[in-house]
Amino acid sequence: MPRIVSDSTNQTLRDMLRPCAEQVAPAIAQWLDDPDVPASISEAMRYVCLNGGKRLRPALVLLSAEAVAAPGSWPADPLPAAVAVELVHSYSLVHDDLPALDDDTLRRGRPTAHVRFGEAMAILVGDALLTKAFEVLATGIANGRIAARLVAELALAAGPAGMIAGQVADMGLCEVPEGAPGRRYIHDRKTGALMRSAVRMGGICAGAEKAELEALGRFGEKIGLAFQVTDDLLDATGPADVLGKTPGKDAEAGKRTYVAEIGVEQTRNVAADLCLQAVEDLQPLGERAEKLRRLAALLPERDR
Ligand code: IPE
Ligand code: IPE
Ligand code: MG
Ligand code: MG
Ligand code: MG
Repeated sequence: MPRIVSDSTNQTLRDMLRPCAEQVAPAIAQWLDDPDVPASISEAMRYVCLNGGKRLRPALVLLSAEAVAAPGSWPADPLPAAVAVELVHSYSLVHDDLPALDDDTLRRGRPTAHVRFGEAMAILVGDALLTKAFEVLATGIANGRIAARLVAELALAAGPAGMIAGQVADMGLCEVPEGAPGRRYIHDRKTGALMRSAVRMGGICAGAEKAELEALGRFGEKIGLAFQVTDDLLDATGPADVLGKTPGKDAEAGKRTYVAEIGVEQTRNVAADLCLQAVEDLQPLGERAEKLRRLAALLPERDR
């Protein structure tokens, strides 16, 4: 039985994410619905984007906007930003699973994209989703100044100094320091960068002041790191049917994870501490940030 953990309001992480997931899935489907896209790649893009992911990053976009101001006063609708971040995330999973990278066959409880559609199509699906994300921002955000800021934010986070740097380091394709600084370098970039950008993009759409955006950025950095630390734990401990992916792959591939370097117990403590610190970062945002606080509190207990 999957472990269901709830907070003092009796809400589970899944409960918290559900309203965002229900809002974002139809929006993704709509953006992917384009008669000019060949049916074969269109089917593959939908397969990887509309299949029961947790939608954590879109939730971070939407809840961060709520944490800054009431919807009526937002200078831009955050929904296209939520879609764009999830498209980048989905692309990153397709490429991460490829035989040349992690060589995984199971994702979200189903065969990975390259297993289902072949390697050439999986590579092209990744390319398509990454490009589409920037189309969504450039054409879906009515306020041009905000659209340009969001494009820059997402490009920096997903690009060669952000998520790709993390993936390069994770694959052992660049030098990374020993010990804590090296672990942190990898995790901050391969996972933290996109989560930080999700939170900041929500803030930008809601018209956040500089100090609010900086506070959101610090929060995003910590929960991003905590999320990947927990992912390491789940890879070491979680059963495949709950995880929806094959456990034990990190140890098998000799990956530099927190579990490999400091053990399960200390890794649990690191994740819990990071989430507590992340909650502190939200202080400048006051009561409005309550949902983000609850989300951070529930994050270390996730089971998938
Ligand atoms: C998996 O992310 C990849 C990591 C960065 C750890 P998620 O655990 O958010 O994946 P989905 O979207 O819910 O499948
Ligand atoms: C994935 O990290 C990070 C990115 C996709 C950028 P992992 O390789 O640990 O993610 P899983 O465990 O395959 O989901
Ligand atoms: Mg990987
Ligand atoms: Mg992987
Ligand atoms: Mg992993």
